[in-house]
Amino acid sequence: MTGQAERRLVVIDCDPGIDDALAILYLAADPGVELVAIGTVDGNVEPELGAENALRALEMADLRSVPVAVGARSPLLQPSRHAEYFHGQDGLGDSALPPPGRSPSTESAVEQLVRLARLHPGALSLLAIGPLTNVALALSLEPDLPELLREVVIMGGAVFGPGNESPWAEFNIAHDPEAAEIVLRARWRHSVLVGLDATRQAILDLEGESKLAEAGSAQARFALAMLNQQMRANSQFELCDPLAAGILADPSLATYRPMPVSVELEGRHTRGATIADRRVTLAEVVETRPQVQVAMQVDSRRFLGTFRRRLGAPE
Ligand code: BDR
Ligand code: CA
Repeated sequence: MTGQAERRLVVIDCDPGIDDALAILYLAADPGVELVAIGTVDGNVEPELGAENALRALEMADLRSVPVAVGARSPLLQPSRHAEYFHGQDGLGDSALPPPGRSPSTESAVEQLVRLARLHPGALSLLAIGPLTNVALALSLEPDLPELLREVVIMGGAVFGPGNESPWAEFNIAHDPEAAEIVLRARWRHSVLVGLDATRQAILDLEGESKLAEAGSAQARFALAMLNQQMRANSQFELCDPLAAGILADPSLATYRPMPVSVELEGRHTRGATIADRRVTLAEVVETRPQVQVAMQVDSRRFLGTFRRRLGAPE
């Protein structure tokens, strides 16, 4: 078998977003991954702008034929609230990049995901790094999706520590809690939750930024342009979506604790919180809700080194 034949087939569902674009660059440069398609969802920005940004990132990575499809334009029930305050008006840190040379495909991101899952039964990995609206809609279009996909790796939630959108909720889950609940109760063959407990161990600091600057590659320059605003404001940047991408490509980057995870849909202060049932030994708990592999301890040094290498910089 050739190395080519063993490459992991990956679809990304995302809302680019600075760190989404970085995750695309990361996977695009991973020799073990074949990026099959990208779908965008309402989240950090509206999905049309997200699709433009995904196309920009693919161009930067010299992947000019990977299709990008636009998905859900709002959460299932609640109104949308974008995150331009963090990701900039253009979603890419106000980096003022030229428009992409291609347009998104005509099929929707939801149709694209279902079509590709049927085309590659049991072989396709889904990296979901935005709100889970598209994935929830795909589940209603194709109830066998959990069997058809090889695995789902989700960036979302905060099981042990605080949220970032509210004291309890992380942005991707808080943006569409109903969708997240549908996805977390589905019986996937294998599902991984890369929440803030893990991503808080994946911090790009000023020293890491300087190492990126040494790279001189087009990808590193693109990354630095997107990161500039946030690095100047905070002296660091949490690599949420790239960590989820890294864990998909190399699960040994983290340890895991299998737990059933529910989303709080009603709490006055806690709507959007991810509640893990930690009584993992109780059979009845697992029977009522499947376990998700919650990422716990991250090998931060190895992840950050790989991240920089994927962008053409020294580790
Ligand atoms: C998540 O929210 C978004 O702002 C990021 O792109 C990431 O997917 C982190 O909470
Ligand atoms: Ca995202």
